[in-house]
Amino acid sequence: MDSASDMDWHAARAALEWQLELGADECIADAPVDRFAAEIEAREAKAAPVVAAPMAGQVAPAVEQDPVQEAERAAAGAATLEQLREAMAAFDLCDLRHGARNLVFCDGVPGAKVMIVGEAPGRDEDRQGKPFVGRAGQLLDKMLAAIGLSRSENVYITNVLPWRPPQNRDPRPAEIAMMKPFLARHIALADPDLLLIVGNISCNALLGKTGITRLRGHWAEAEGRPAIPTFHPAYLLRQPQAKREAWADMLALSARLRALK
Ligand code: URA
Repeated sequence: MDSASDMDWHAARAALEWQLELGADECIADAPVDRFAAEIEAREAKAAPVVAAPMAGQVAPAVEQDPVQEAERAAAGAATLEQLREAMAAFDLCDLRHGARNLVFCDGVPGAKVMIVGEAPGRDEDRQGKPFVGRAGQLLDKMLAAIGLSRSENVYITNVLPWRPPQNRDPRPAEIAMMKPFLARHIALADPDLLLIVGNISCNALLGKTGITRLRGHWAEAEGRPAIPTFHPAYLLRQPQAKREAWADMLALSARLRALK
């Protein structure tokens, strides 16, 4: 052996001894295995969606989620208001969420005797993540104060939709339908004695009826609880002459609340 192959022999022996020290003392294959490459391959295969091949002559069925069924399942799984908020935040089938800054879930006192259901967040609500904080909300607060109620003490507030529709457009029937299971669960978990339904869209969602001018001031039942529809405060800002009827609705709410005690 020349000196160069002597060196190779010593280097090879040192490498072998090092492997033996690590515990690699058995020869299990004729060729080396690149375990690093194998691991990457396995990871990629796991991430790829598994698509079942259709049988010969069959058309592969399109797997489509029914948003209402998915919402019902997600809402039913929520045992607390916090879990419901999380379930709504995770609900990915309503496109409104993608254009909204915040999920607007609630304000006020959970467990209060009176629960108000509005329509959908506007710009201010979207920014702050709270319902009824804009001009309409300030008027609502005044209407509540006039009968001794406030969101800091004895009222709980939510909306039919938790995300602001773009340009404040009216919510679409499909959007209301898919968020309704969450609203129903919200009412069940907040467990109010009375509901104040604010505006036409909320009437439609909770009573299945529209025509707020006709419906307002008449007690109905929504989600198994007494509910009174009234004008939306945004409408009252545009039509102040309607405040007189809204005041009558607030008095009716107050009287029913007193009768509970
Ligand atoms: N209008 C609503 O119906 N809800 C809000 O939260 C704000 C404005």
